[in-house]
Amino acid sequence: MNPLAVELNAKIAAENPLVLELLSDLGKRMYFPSKGILSQSAEAKAMGKRFNASIGTALEVGKAMHLGCVMQQLGEFNVDEALLYAPSPGIAELRQGWRQKNLHDNPDLQGAACSLPVVTNGLSGALSVAADLFINPGDTVLLANMNWDNYHLNFGDRCQAKLEFYNYFAGNGLDLEAFRAALQKYQAGEKLLVILNFPNNPSGYTATEEEGCALAQALLQSAERGVNMVVLIDDAYFGLFYDSEIMQQSLFSKLAGKHPRLMAIKADAATKEVYVWGLRVGFITFSIGGVAENSPLYAALEAKAAGIIRSTISNCSMLSQKIIACALRDPEFYAQRAAKAELMQKRALKVREVLRNNPTWLKHFEAYPFNSGYFMCLKLKKIDAEALRVHLLKQYQAGTISITPTDLRIAFSCLEENEIPALFETIYQACEDLGS
Ligand SMILES: Cc1ncc(COP(=O)(O)O)c(C=O)c1O
Repeated sequence: MNPLAVELNAKIAAENPLVLELLSDLGKRMYFPSKGILSQSAEAKAMGKRFNASIGTALEVGKAMHLGCVMQQLGEFNVDEALLYAPSPGIAELRQGWRQKNLHDNPDLQGAACSLPVVTNGLSGALSVAADLFINPGDTVLLANMNWDNYHLNFGDRCQAKLEFYNYFAGNGLDLEAFRAALQKYQAGEKLLVILNFPNNPSGYTATEEEGCALAQALLQSAERGVNMVVLIDDAYFGLFYDSEIMQQSLFSKLAGKHPRLMAIKADAATKEVYVWGLRVGFITFSIGGVAENSPLYAALEAKAAGIIRSTISNCSMLSQKIIACALRDPEFYAQRAAKAELMQKRALKVREVLRNNPTWLKHFEAYPFNSGYFMCLKLKKIDAEALRVHLLKQYQAGTISITPTDLRIAFSCLEENEIPALFETIYQACEDLGS
């Protein structure tokens, strides 16, 4: 093992040996190569004032070499801001800026010790860093039976975790009993990674405050029983909340720093929160009970995450990071974000209204509970979702997603409010075409 990895592991073990146990073999081997080209470049930058022939970029008159046809597209940005490499863990102003945004959105995190967010290539990047750091082949990952299919590809197929599922809904809310029962299967000393995603893809459901407390309590009780817990909170659609009784803060706030046997990971992204899907700016933040802010353990985890990034994509887009860092500093940021959330809420409420006004549609489908995010899901009573999807496409030029044989996902986020009634009438008509 590289001596830098040995050093990081020792720092982690000195503060909480369980964290070292939770790491995958790859996670244990990871380190940030701070003593190689990167540190020599940093030294050259500081001291090589006469000549700096250290970095793999090209300079001209003291600035990043560039083509006019590139820079003329980039408006306000200066060439260095736009074109040079970003550090592997991300640029400092963005990491600090996102931490401040998370504290603004999640006041309960004030005082909870966390790592600084590490910048990842979108939220998918955060999930793959988490999987690389914490999953060995054969480790168990517990998921709701309504989940995002990329979890299967990342945790199941890529990292060879054993995926276990619990039933998500009971009536109008979460099936908390199923969740508790699923956790009960794990014994003291066993390792379990749980993924929780609110607002949920595909259902568009966020736990109520009461349900959120119950979920957190069940997870903390498992840690208390001795199960070694990694809880990954996927906050992709955070902030798009359309009902007042739902949890207004991330579930991460209820877990961060709460138990020395529970590693809480917040995976979030500018992607959907800031409406910048293709910029690929995501974040991963770690927190475990009993470890102080600014502790060497968090620095070591950040270094390991940066090592994964360095060894796979090297670093994330500088230009994208600068754009988000500037947006976060803009005094209009929160107001503009709220205006878009309001627009999305109108669409969600329109879907509810249309469904409420058409009880005859219950013959073919009903909605799963939804109160947040981009999506809602229809539960089909008789017709196969894939057959319906294909029929909608071919006959009516209407695109939807079949998630399971019974579940059809509708992204109301992509529809203007006035398109919503016609789409649902079309879905009903398509069901009529296919079944009796
Ligand atoms: C639940 C969930 N998590 C993560 C992501 C990935 O986000 P990103 O585009 O930032 O990788 C998505 C995107 O569809 C998602 O639905």
